Amino acid sequence: MQPGWARGATMWLGILLALLLCSSLEGQENSFTINTVDMKSLPDWTVHNGKNLTLQCTADVSTTSYVKPQHRMLFYKDDVLFYNVSSMESTESYFIPKARVYDSGTYKCTVIVNNKEKTTQEYQVLVTGVPSPSVTLDKKEAIQGGIVRVNCSVPEEKAPIHFTIEKLGLNSKIVKQKREKTSRDQNFVTLEFPIEEQDSVITFRCQARIISGIHVQTSEYTKSDLVTVRESFSMPKFHISPTGMIMEGDQLHIKCTIQVTHLAQEFPEIIIQKDKVIVANSKHGNEAVYSVMAMVEHSGNYTCKVESSRIAKVSSIVVNITELFSKPKLESSSIRLDQGQTLSLYCSIPGMPAANFTILKEDTVVSQTSNFRKRVSEWDSGTYICTAGIGKVVKKSNTVQIVVCEMLSRPRISHDAQFEVIKGQTIEVSCQSINGTSPISYQLFKNTESLESCTKSSNDPAVFKDNPTEDVRYYCAVNNCHSQGRLLSEVLRVKVIAPVDGVQISILSNKVVESGADIVLQCAVDEGSDPITYSFYREKETKPFHQTTLNDTQTFWAKSKAGKEEEGQYYCTAFNRANQASSVPRSKILTVTVVLAPWKKGLIAVVVIGVIIALLIVGAKCYFLRKSKAKQMPVEMSRPAVPLLNSNEKMSDPSMEANSHYGHNDDVGNHAMKPINDNKEPRNSDVQYTEVQVSSPEPHKDLGKKGTETVYSEIRKAAPDAVENRYSRTEGSLDGT
Ligand SMILES: *[C@@H]1O[C@H](CO)[C@@H](O)[C@H](O)[C@H]1NC(C)=O
Ligand SMILES: *[C@@H]1O[C@H](CO)[C@@H](O)[C@H](O)[C@H]1NC(C)=O
Ligand SMILES: *[C@@H]1O[C@H](CO)[C@@H](O)[C@H](O)[C@H]1NC(C)=O
Ligand SMILES: *[C@@H]1O[C@H](CO)[C@@H](O)[C@H](O)[C@H]1NC(C)=O
Ligand SMILES: *[C@@H]1O[C@H](CO)[C@@H](O)[C@H](O)[C@H]1NC(C)=O
Ligand SMILES: *[C@@H]1O[C@H](CO)[C@@H](O)[C@H](O)[C@H]1NC(C)=O
Ligand SMILES: *[C@@H]1O[C@H](CO)[C@@H](O)[C@H](O)[C@H]1NC(C)=O
Ligand SMILES: *[C@@H]1O[C@H](CO)[C@@H](O)[C@H](O)[C@H]1NC(C)=O
Repeated sequence: MQPGWARGATMWLGILLALLLCSSLEGQENSFTINTVDMKSLPDWTVHNGKNLTLQCTADVSTTSYVKPQHRMLFYKDDVLFYNVSSMESTESYFIPKARVYDSGTYKCTVIVNNKEKTTQEYQVLVTGVPSPSVTLDKKEAIQGGIVRVNCSVPEEKAPIHFTIEKLGLNSKIVKQKREKTSRDQNFVTLEFPIEEQDSVITFRCQARIISGIHVQTSEYTKSDLVTVRESFSMPKFHISPTGMIMEGDQLHIKCTIQVTHLAQEFPEIIIQKDKVIVANSKHGNEAVYSVMAMVEHSGNYTCKVESSRIAKVSSIVVNITELFSKPKLESSSIRLDQGQTLSLYCSIPGMPAANFTILKEDTVVSQTSNFRKRVSEWDSGTYICTAGIGKVVKKSNTVQIVVCEMLSRPRISHDAQFEVIKGQTIEVSCQSINGTSPISYQLFKNTESLESCTKSSNDPAVFKDNPTEDVRYYCAVNNCHSQGRLLSEVLRVKVIAPVDGVQISILSNKVVESGADIVLQCAVDEGSDPITYSFYREKETKPFHQTTLNDTQTFWAKSKAGKEEEGQYYCTAFNRANQASSVPRSKILTVTVVLAPWKKGLIAVVVIGVIIALLIVGAKCYFLRKSKAKQMPVEMSRPAVPLLNSNEKMSDPSMEANSHYGHNDDVGNHAMKPINDNKEPRNSDVQYTEVQVSSPEPHKDLGKKGTETVYSEIRKAAPDAVENRYSRTEGSLDGT
């Protein structure tokens, strides 16, 4: 029993020791470091398409442990992890069987040991070459106008792939059509190719192109099977009847036929064309016919076009038709006739064969023979044509344009204004020929000069504008196609009146008129048409005192023996019917003064002096009588008698009398203009004087200078406070005595 127990105890001890040893080993820290990480491609970094490729990643790790450490290796293509392996080995591989273009790219690998990692540099893997694509067709036999579907694929590769498919003829040298397409998510494309009419045996070839990085990899061309092309319809064919020479009048048939294969789904359209004009067509059937009575005009190049949706086949033929007779000719004796003249039309065929002729005027038959004669009126103007028929063939001639001219009626001339035209106004002169073929040319004459011309395309009046300034005569001339030539209108006389202008008033003598003399006033105008109405006015009177109407540019108004009442301000007006009532022209103001005649002044002076002398004589007599009665003789009485005698002596010359009378005072002539309180004279002089008359040897000059003349006597005292006017000094002195 003892050894069995002991043996079991020893075993348990051993296990315990092993556990202890292990735990002590675990507790001891091992060190790792990754020295290098490297990548390799086998056989090379650049491989041909379809070759096996092996990528190797090698890590060189140093460790303190005697056991190699567990590490992970991560393989990346274009930064995308594609292989992840955990291993104790220093080298791990990734095998790519039959490398393709899409395997090209940037590769790297990362090694991770515990928490340490290291990555290789980046390596470029390039797979060169693209496998030849495979080409399949949907049919081996096609018809013209149909389509062939071509499938080109590169099953080994991945999209995107750029495909180029070409359609070739039988000798495969000429590329008939080329189409390209990039397939983005499939490794094949299917493209349709139409079959054209010139295709007979065709084949296709395809090329694929793949971009890997910056490189473009191109495949070889792969050829498809052959495709046999059948016609859907034949070339169109013409059949002309009658065969041989075709004469005008023959029934001409131009037929175009085709043959259509049973494979075609539909009939093509057949079109017969001549010079771009479709003359016949057929949509269902294999022929089209153009049938017509042959005429020379039907000669020419005919085209037959057969069209299906994609195919058009064209053939052409020249048809030659022989002329039976030439085109008839219509001739006229004249194409411009006067009304009443005879129109003569003649229709003929060169070579003169017998034919049935018809002459027409605008679709109306005017003659069934080759001649037409007529005395024409205006309605016979128009287009004439003739036809000539031999058998069924009828031909039209040239057209002849006939113009029949109606004679113009004498033009009527008129104007829009009243009988008289005021100077400065514009008048419209119209001229009209009511009858006569238009166009009518009008010409207006003013006096004898041509003023203006115009042409009217109807019988409406021609209207001319003018602005006459004096009396004027108008007439017009008309002309049209008629052979009569120019026709003149009557003469239209237009009276132009000028309004009155420039009114002046004047007096035929001096403006200062002696009373008793004649006053003659003249009213004159610068211009104005007759008759003119003149009116003479006194200022401040509304009615004229004289009015007259006459055919003259001036008038007079006379008054004999003018008195003081004729003095005043005058003006005159003048107008004629051309003046507007609101603005009658008037003259300036004329001032007329009436003065006493010199002999009248003298007469007054003589009378006055005579009266004074008489009074003095009477006074003296009375005095002497009283004195003699009183027996006293006063000496001083003789003194006042002296001036009286003097004045009496000089009565024969009144002017001299006035001057000598005031001989003691030199400035007597100017005295009237002096201020009243003039102190020049001595205050006590108390001069009193009488201005009776001032007369000069040249009365007009003098009067002109002085203006108005004082013709009354004035007695003035020098004393300003006692101004006293007396009619006579003599009278005053008489008062004083
Ligand atoms: C490529 O690898 C395959 C196995 O994946 C093998 O059968 C073939 O023989 C290899 N080709 C070459 C040329 O080594
Ligand atoms: C590697 O694969 C393991 C499991 O196969 C996974 O747990 C780990 O996350 C992977 N590593 C990376 C970096 O993806
Ligand atoms: C074209 O060919 C490929 C490969 O032969 C095939 O997968 C695809 O379906 C074909 N496509 C058509 C439209 O026939
Ligand atoms: C007839 O017309 C066709 C089409 O316009 C042209 O091709 C052809 O040469 C012409 N033929 C003749 C003889 O002019
Ligand atoms: C048509 O006929 C005329 C004479 O009839 C001839 O001169 C001409 O050459 C012909 N043209 C064609 C195209 O046959
Ligand atoms: C003219 O017309 C008549 C009657 O229509 C016909 O009988 C005759 O043959 C014609 N003449 C010609 C030359 O065509
Ligand atoms: C114009 O013609 C018509 C008819 O032809 C005629 O009655 C009229 O007198 C003519 N007038 C003038 C002014 O010639
Ligand atoms: C003015 O002259 C016209 C025509 O010359 C005449 O009819 C008229 O009587 C004359 N008037 C006067 C006032 O003389």
